[in-house]
Amino acid sequence: MQCIFCFFLVFILYDASQLFLILWNLIKDQITSPELAEHLTRLYSIQLQENTVCQECFLETKKDSNMLMLPLPMFDFDSQPLRTLEDALHLFFAPVLLTEKNTFHCEQCVKKTSCLRVRVTKKVSHSLSFPPSLDFSQILTPEHYCPDTQEKDNGLYDLFAVVAHSGLADFGHYCAYVWSLTEHKWFCFNDSSVCQVSWEDVKCTYGRSSLRWGETAYLLVYLKRNCKQL
Ligand SMILES: *[C@@H]1O[C@H](CO)[C@@H](O)[C@H](O)[C@H]1NC(C)=O
Repeated sequence: MQCIFCFFLVFILYDASQLFLILWNLIKDQITSPELAEHLTRLYSIQLQENTVCQECFLETKKDSNMLMLPLPMFDFDSQPLRTLEDALHLFFAPVLLTEKNTFHCEQCVKKTSCLRVRVTKKVSHSLSFPPSLDFSQILTPEHYCPDTQEKDNGLYDLFAVVAHSGLADFGHYCAYVWSLTEHKWFCFNDSSVCQVSWEDVKCTYGRSSLRWGETAYLLVYLKRNCKQL
């Protein structure tokens, strides 16, 4: 058993996804078996392939990437709040036309213009529902979902954990709701206190725009159904 030492400044509010990446890298660096490190990387990675088609010469460029999390949009193209996780996933995977503000370098045309990315730190707290079971075959077509694997995949995922944040964008408190795979119950981990909660309690993290201090889900962890345990 390895001891993992990590130091965090306790008065800084870390972004939950940033903290997850820091912890993930610390854990990976301290695993002595390369096979285990690779197995865990495979288990937790989301493999994505991005296809970009040049609108001038129609050259298709494919880019493979591995992500630990999907950074989902909370608003649609008209800046209207999205209401469900499924809508956010549909929008995330929807094709985007890259225009002047956000262009791509086409190797054939040898052209590129500047790219603009704006980050805002305002907390988004409108209600966005997420299901306890997610069917990816309703989000992506079978050929878009896992195109390279032989494995027969039904696309079903079960919610395993919700990291929720209460407070403002730069100040507040995190707690985690975790589904116990052995006890088949939800638990809330809130600093040193752990208590059993109901699905109705977890649903409180859907968010409500009227609640400025309210709890809102920030990270959702879905586990592939029938996923083999280590
Ligand atoms: C977590 O604990 C704090 C302090 O005891 C409390 O104010 C807060 O309501 C708790 N959050 C949840 C989700 O139980």
